[in-house]
Amino acid sequence: MKDLLEAPAFWDDVPSFEGSAPHIFVVLGASGDLAKKKIYPTLWWLFRDRLVPENTMFVGYARSGLTVAELREKCQQYMKVKEGEQERYEQFWGVNHYVRGSYDTRRDFELLDQEMQKVGTARANRIFYLALPPSVFDVVTSNLKACCMASQGWSRVIIEKPFGKDSESSAKLSNHLASLFKEEELYRIDHYLGKEMVQNLMTLR
Ligand SMILES: NC(=O)c1ccc[n+]([C@@H]2O[C@H](COP(=O)([O-])OP(=O)(O)OC[C@H]3O[C@@H](n4cnc5c(N)ncnc54)[C@H](OP(=O)(O)O)[C@@H]3O)[C@@H](O)[C@H]2O)c1
Repeated sequence: MKDLLEAPAFWDDVPSFEGSAPHIFVVLGASGDLAKKKIYPTLWWLFRDRLVPENTMFVGYARSGLTVAELREKCQQYMKVKEGEQERYEQFWGVNHYVRGSYDTRRDFELLDQEMQKVGTARANRIFYLALPPSVFDVVTSNLKACCMASQGWSRVIIEKPFGKDSESSAKLSNHLASLFKEEELYRIDHYLGKEMVQNLMTLR
């Protein structure tokens, strides 16, 4: 019991972002279901709780012609903004940007890169979240590699499942990604995997 009480709590590991480099978080497929129901709400909660560095910018990217105001409207019912959080919520949307572009045109990714240079600095770290159907994973990651890698900071690519539909397509995707990125630059996410386990963490403690 004594050991348990003296064990560090999980919040002891919350990082300090003082003096942290700027970051740009790009949501590819920003117009989609996953983006509005899960990704933007999660980004907002992290921003609200100051669990992302203060100087983080968010850039949505998709083919749909949306303004940030329209994106905000699409996400609104999932954001769960509580009383007293409105000012912070405005700040969140104030650091959001949106770029319209296709997934298979290199020029559009060059424009995305230009937008990132405009909103961030050259030393900004870049994180790309693929909230997209698997049919465009290959072409999007190729275009990201060709046009959008951070010039001074690091870049990371996050891919939402599925990672293929059988072992052959999974291996094909893995080989494609390995030809573009180092393993430490890649994150594979299944936002439902282990959900109940995570929800029960406090009980387990
Ligand atoms: N929704 C969820 O809760 C959920 C849960 C688990 C996993 N996932 C995974 O997350 C990824 C995204 O899911 P989602 O539900 O957000 O998908 P989605 O809404 O169908 O697609 C996301 C965006 O991708 C673009 N898109 C759709 N179909 C396309 C196509 N055939 N070719 C090119 N672009 C297309 C659309 O944007 P534009 O037309 O504006 O470009 C769309 O807004 C998928 O891999 C899915 O399996 C989703």
